[in-house]
Amino acid sequence: MLHRLLYKMARQAYNVPRKKLIEIVIVLFLITKCHAQQAWDHVVDLDQNYQLLWTVKDTDIIFEARVRTHGYVGFGFSRDGTIYGADVFIGWIDDAHTFYHDCHIKTHSATGEPVPDQSQDYVLLKSSENATHTILRFRRKLDTCDEKFDVPITNDTMNIIYLYHPEKPKRGQIKKGSLSDPVMAMQPVKSLLLLQRSQQSRSSKEAGISTLEVRNKNVRIPLTPSKMLKWCRIHRLRNITENHIIRYEPVFSSPESQKFITSMKLYECRTSAINLQSDDDEECNEGIKGARKCFTVVATWSRGSEGFTFPKDVGYLLDSNSIDSLLLEVHYQPIYKKQLDDSSGFRIYHTRNRRKYDAGSLQIGIEPNFLHIIAPGFKRVISVGHCTSNCTQKALPAEGINIFGVNMQTHSLGRKMKISLVRNGEELAPIAQESNLNADYLENRIFNRVSKLFPGDHVTVECTYNTYEREQFTLGGDSVDEEICSATLMYYPRQDQLVSCNSQTNVAHLLKALGIEKLSKSGDQPMIKSPEKYAGRTLERHLQLYDWRNEYDTFDRIIKTSQFDGICNSAVVSSRVSGTPANIIKPYTALDSSCPYHDLKTNSIYKHQPNTQSNDIDGDENSISDNEKIKVTRHSPTYSLELSSSSSRNVLSPLIFLLVVLRICLQ
Ligand SMILES: *[C@@H]1O[C@H](CO)[C@@H](O)[C@H](O)[C@H]1NC(C)=O
Ligand SMILES: *[C@@H]1O[C@H](CO)[C@@H](O)[C@H](O)[C@H]1NC(C)=O
Ligand SMILES: *[C@@H]1O[C@H](CO)[C@@H](O)[C@H](O)[C@H]1NC(C)=O
Ligand SMILES: *[C@@H]1O[C@H](CO)[C@@H](O)[C@H](O)[C@H]1NC(C)=O
Repeated sequence: MLHRLLYKMARQAYNVPRKKLIEIVIVLFLITKCHAQQAWDHVVDLDQNYQLLWTVKDTDIIFEARVRTHGYVGFGFSRDGTIYGADVFIGWIDDAHTFYHDCHIKTHSATGEPVPDQSQDYVLLKSSENATHTILRFRRKLDTCDEKFDVPITNDTMNIIYLYHPEKPKRGQIKKGSLSDPVMAMQPVKSLLLLQRSQQSRSSKEAGISTLEVRNKNVRIPLTPSKMLKWCRIHRLRNITENHIIRYEPVFSSPESQKFITSMKLYECRTSAINLQSDDDEECNEGIKGARKCFTVVATWSRGSEGFTFPKDVGYLLDSNSIDSLLLEVHYQPIYKKQLDDSSGFRIYHTRNRRKYDAGSLQIGIEPNFLHIIAPGFKRVISVGHCTSNCTQKALPAEGINIFGVNMQTHSLGRKMKISLVRNGEELAPIAQESNLNADYLENRIFNRVSKLFPGDHVTVECTYNTYEREQFTLGGDSVDEEICSATLMYYPRQDQLVSCNSQTNVAHLLKALGIEKLSKSGDQPMIKSPEKYAGRTLERHLQLYDWRNEYDTFDRIIKTSQFDGICNSAVVSSRVSGTPANIIKPYTALDSSCPYHDLKTNSIYKHQPNTQSNDIDGDENSISDNEKIKVTRHSPTYSLELSSSSSRNVLSPLIFLLVVLRICLQ
């Protein structure tokens, strides 16, 4: 409307040619639109001098690095947690000129020096300097298809490397030795989820938001050699009716005690077992949770997570009419020779303005107990937890539930995790997967698109462990030296029929897998009676002496194909069913990479980057063939890209101006 009016007025007042006017109006329109979208999706302080902001747009990602330095600045991705083979962007501002290079660090680099890539896949969008900081904004494709020197940005946890130095190179080019002290400039590698990350802005501008803190009170952290401590605190819910939780985040009483917390969970409890008038706390046991009916997970935190913000039209119902109390469970790892008390927990943001959908949570995976046995000495051991179609069939509504987020957890042996779905014999695309699992960074994920879960669907949680360094078997359990394989799905609309859906190995099949025929129960520990060769061993001794290297394949096959015990809990009842692995008739095949054909002999890439600005504009005057275009967009290693900070020096034709504005808009 406004633009049409403007158009009319201008035409009448100045008698401008029609075509020109359309251009101007479009530009005006884009400028106003641009100004409205300067917000970043994510902001993280990598350290006190380096702030990283980013936004994902389709297949592109835009970063801005705000760094307290006037020297050079770098940002990039490590392949394996080291700098070797890393993909890194280097830039600096010198005398109003910005220099930048898409670089890599050689796998066998002696100096750790970044060298420019053949294919320059980072595009500088903006740069500036103030009294203290250098600010670089740049864009790249999530997958640049430069397999050799760029690391694709995926849904996995990324290993971020970043560097900065007070000095800058003398000239615009990066040559051997021109970056001073690249190793000193390099900061420790950081884990970061770039995609599927939930919004973390703390200052919500919505009205009517209150906060509630559920925290422990001075819990003494256990001393080694005692085992880990699971502490439970019950918080009676009062006077909160029909509220929605819209965000939660961890609160720590001190950075020191935070180090000894491995995970926290908040459950809702339906009844108070004893008629308690006040809050209560004690060491956790399944009895407390069972008696009070605390089966539903409200909030979950594991190391590295900053909290969780629900999607716009979803909230978690907080109502003291249906929820008697909240139970906070904190897992403490023992501390060595020191007395330390902790009062950490969750801060919950809730509002009276209820949103469209009620969120629910569904915990799936392997029951954390000794029936989960992980063989030692392998680079890859896979355990699978099941939520059987038997459980989902009875519980879920016919229209299904919509999964919008997940938190996936293992302990330190975990390397990968995958949540898959089998519907009527067909394996669908995974709901979530992580191939770079880091137990110290288990962030809650949020999906761009919801996944449906229907009655009768069979869900599996697959955990891949690396036990190469372990000499002894590992058992399932909550301690840090035991393992878990667990995921909490977040979905809407809420239902109460299924709040957790786990599986465990059936004891009879476990014994069979371990080659045990008969156990006798004399004394406190069951002893093997037959076969003869194992007779007299306790189960633990048997696991210690077991020939994992040669027997593992058989063991694993029996475990993976046998019946197991499914444990399905509703919000108030726990039930057991016998389950069988899903019968997959049509396995899922992942889509091929979207990257173009690569010529393996020369390693050259035949798809050019759509660098609209240079190609399309030039196109009119001197049309270049496709072959030449490729050369235009692939810069030679020594070529230095330069962007003037004061780009208004040139007189821009409206068309170029339009393209420039368009490009800024695309940020
Ligand atoms: C320079 O920019 C940074 C990042 O935007 C900002 O935090 C800082 O306050 C600015 N410093 C000055 C002196 O304006
Ligand atoms: C991330 O996962 C979603 C589905 O969960 C998928 O559509 C998307 O393509 C993935 N992104 C990348 C870069 O792999
Ligand atoms: C809860 O509400 C009751 C009645 O409305 C009131 O008497 C009581 O003080 C309230 N308690 C709290 C903790 O706000
Ligand atoms: C479902 O559970 C019941 C009871 O344990 C069992 O008899 C039945 O075979 C199960 N059905 C399937 C499809 O696994």
